Amino acid sequence: MKLTIGVKLFLAYFIITASIVWFATDKISLRITNGIDQAAEEVMVDSANLLAQMVSSNIKDDEINVDEVRAIMSAYLNRELDVNIYSISKKNPNLQIYITNQDGIVVYDSKGKIEGEDYSQWRDVFLTLKGKYGARSSAYDASIEEPTADQKAHHVAAPIYHNGKIFGSLTVIKSVADLKPYVIAQKDQITEYAIYVLLISLLFGAGVSFVVTRGTRKLVKYTTALSKGETVVAPKIRQVEFAELAQAIEKLRVDLEGREYVEEYINTMAHELRTPITGIRGTAENLLMPMSSSQREHFVNNILDANKKMDMLVNRLLNLSRIERRDKLENVEKIDVKTLIKDVVQAPSRKGNISRRSIKIEYTIERDFSIKAEKLLAEQALSNIIDNAIDFTPPDSTISIKVSESNTHVNIQVQDQGKGVPEHARKQIFRRFFSSSRPDTGKRGNGLGLRFVKKIMSLHGGKVSLKNRFMEDGAVATLKFPIK
Ligand SMILES: Nc1ncnc2c1ncn2[C@@H]1O[C@H](COP(=O)(O)OP(=O)(O)OP(=O)(O)O)[C@@H](O)[C@H]1O
Ligand SMILES: [Mg+2]
Repeated sequence: MKLTIGVKLFLAYFIITASIVWFATDKISLRITNGIDQAAEEVMVDSANLLAQMVSSNIKDDEINVDEVRAIMSAYLNRELDVNIYSISKKNPNLQIYITNQDGIVVYDSKGKIEGEDYSQWRDVFLTLKGKYGARSSAYDASIEEPTADQKAHHVAAPIYHNGKIFGSLTVIKSVADLKPYVIAQKDQITEYAIYVLLISLLFGAGVSFVVTRGTRKLVKYTTALSKGETVVAPKIRQVEFAELAQAIEKLRVDLEGREYVEEYINTMAHELRTPITGIRGTAENLLMPMSSSQREHFVNNILDANKKMDMLVNRLLNLSRIERRDKLENVEKIDVKTLIKDVVQAPSRKGNISRRSIKIEYTIERDFSIKAEKLLAEQALSNIIDNAIDFTPPDSTISIKVSESNTHVNIQVQDQGKGVPEHARKQIFRRFFSSSRPDTGKRGNGLGLRFVKKIMSLHGGKVSLKNRFMEDGAVATLKFPIK
């Protein structure tokens, strides 16, 4: 499997975030354990001193009244508690103590295990008897030699004074296991927060990688479409690098298209010019023969016809190529649609054609409409579709021109009564050089008209369409000019 850049990013993000969260959680947990231990020690110091003070007042005849202490401690240890400290409940007291005399011999042990033993070398007793602060952390049960962390206990001692001198020591013992629930509760809370942080940052990571992937996906889709020769618009990408890449590709595409375009133009021009050129040569050769002046006149007219055709083709190609390279309008003006139509229909070249084929023109113009357009281009667009209608409608038929308005557009429709566009031609009509022969004369056009119209309309932010009429013979060409 190949990993996409998005997946890689996400994985990297995941690993980094997870490590940071794990590291932070670990450190914080350690801190909390230490913090709880320190707080406990502070309370233990106070307890040890309070208890030592109480023992001090139980010294009789230079001896600690152990029986009294034993009674108090066992009463204390037998107490039943029902205390809830936040989420943790405490059922019985669990502070243990032992007391040594000034030689470090244990005279009392609340657990009843080590009485009589010499504890003078244990750090807590040793330091306390010397008048220093004595504490240690070691096995709760002295018989365990290598205690685990949970088997340890904190031991904090305080001196017992008698007559102003250190008379013995009292050690308070708190098992680490007793403190553990507090540590665990805090750790659980921290883990919960850590999971939230991880989830949120993962969501963010997923978002980031989605955005990046979307950019690349768009680019890939775009370039794939381009490589298949489809006409596609460059994708809109916000990510700067990708946007620049898309622009670069778009520029490359335009350059390449320009090159193909010129090639295509030259090829077709050569192809289209070949027929009249061959014709001219044939006719010229004929002219070399002896002939009557009327024959000569016929051949000369042929040559002039061919010349006219070539001239027209070259002009139309130049016009089309000029407009295809444009990307904005110049000299846009407000044009009255009725005047526009009248000018086009009554142009001398068209007028003759219309009357020769006895074509009637019918107008349905709801009211005065105007469009914003470049006048010459609007005229050319309309001329092309009207010429097509004239060419494809049979003699003695009617072409009807309708102007109407929708919310967004002014629509100019030209309907004829010809055979309409055959199924096989439907997809081709806007392609350069596609032309079918005219029903009357059998001659073809250049196949440039609709292409030209399409470009003009797109420059105006409008549209052209050519459809067959519904349930009737004929086609209807529509120009849609936007109302701005
Ligand atoms: N009114 C119409 N009725 C039927 N077919 C049409 C009509 N208008 C256009 N077409 C079809 O669309 C094709 C392309 O039209 P277009 O105007 O681009 O080229 P043309 O008229 O053949 O040549 P040119 O306009 O360059 O002289 C036509 O050859 C024809 O097949
Ligand atoms: Mg045409």
